[in-house]
Amino acid sequence: MSVGRVRLTASLVRGMSRVPGGQSLLDAAKSNAIGRSTLSKLLVYRRPFRTLGEAESSLAGLGGSGHESKEYANLHLQLNESARPSDYAALYYMEKVLPAVRSVFDLGGNVGNLFYCYSKYLKGLEGVTWTVMDLPENVRRGRELAKERDASQLTFSESWQDASGVDLLIACGCLHYFEKPFAQMILELKQKPPYVLINRTAMSDGEPVATVQDNGFSHTACMLHNREQVIAGLKEIGYVLEDQWRAPELSLEIPGYPEHRVWSYAGMFLRRADVSLPARA
Ligand SMILES: C[S@@+](CC[C@H](N)C(=O)[O-])C[C@H]1O[C@@H](n2cnc3c(N)ncnc32)[C@H](O)[C@@H]1O
Repeated sequence: MSVGRVRLTASLVRGMSRVPGGQSLLDAAKSNAIGRSTLSKLLVYRRPFRTLGEAESSLAGLGGSGHESKEYANLHLQLNESARPSDYAALYYMEKVLPAVRSVFDLGGNVGNLFYCYSKYLKGLEGVTWTVMDLPENVRRGRELAKERDASQLTFSESWQDASGVDLLIACGCLHYFEKPFAQMILELKQKPPYVLINRTAMSDGEPVATVQDNGFSHTACMLHNREQVIAGLKEIGYVLEDQWRAPELSLEIPGYPEHRVWSYAGMFLRRADVSLPARA
């Protein structure tokens, strides 16, 4: 498949949806099987899929996972040289709970970009053990970088079970890469973390749907979970939602499908119902 051709088609469809009457024409096409299938063939991977697996299959032939490319790791380090807009809400809650936190588990933490960034902003992070879980190549690179930067409190893991018993679980920019609902993932842990911070997560307000992010140099399949369902799931397993916010720096559009548009990614902070936020010092 030609990536250039897919990108061109995607921008033509996006352009069409923005001219008066254009989206109505696309909706009319989508309302019948032939129109839907034609649009799907044209958009190849830039379209909605039912499952993450289907979205991943649409990338066959493009080679390799976008997640583990060196450019992607460098981009994250570069983007988080200083805090991004959504980091401020995260930092606010981290500062609040830090007196009760000795261990952090950073799911999808790449090479440790959040750790390096937040260390600049938070007093009291020095004594905290920060474990990043990511894919093997990122873990390898992260360990090398931690050695170079002498970051001895930063450790790496490839096992979700290592999140069991930590004080603070962070899932930043990664829940949309997991098909399984987050609440179900947490239920698999022997000990549920008292505090959970979700940030920069692509979540929909409509039906859950999978698609592909095309960030210019790599492609990644992702799952847009429904925000209210994520919150309801976490409440069901014993969490209280303290707050939620938008990450205005990130959005996602499936060309021709405005019903799935994510205007801004989501952030939220939750605590287990049996714990409270530490009292102010
Ligand atoms: C967009 S980056 C987020 C990096 C960082 N947490 C941030 O918010 O800036 C998503 C990360 O999730 C990781 N990831 C994706 N699928 C994963 C999986 N199955 N297990 C562990 N990490 C995964 C990717 O490798 C990547 O580092």
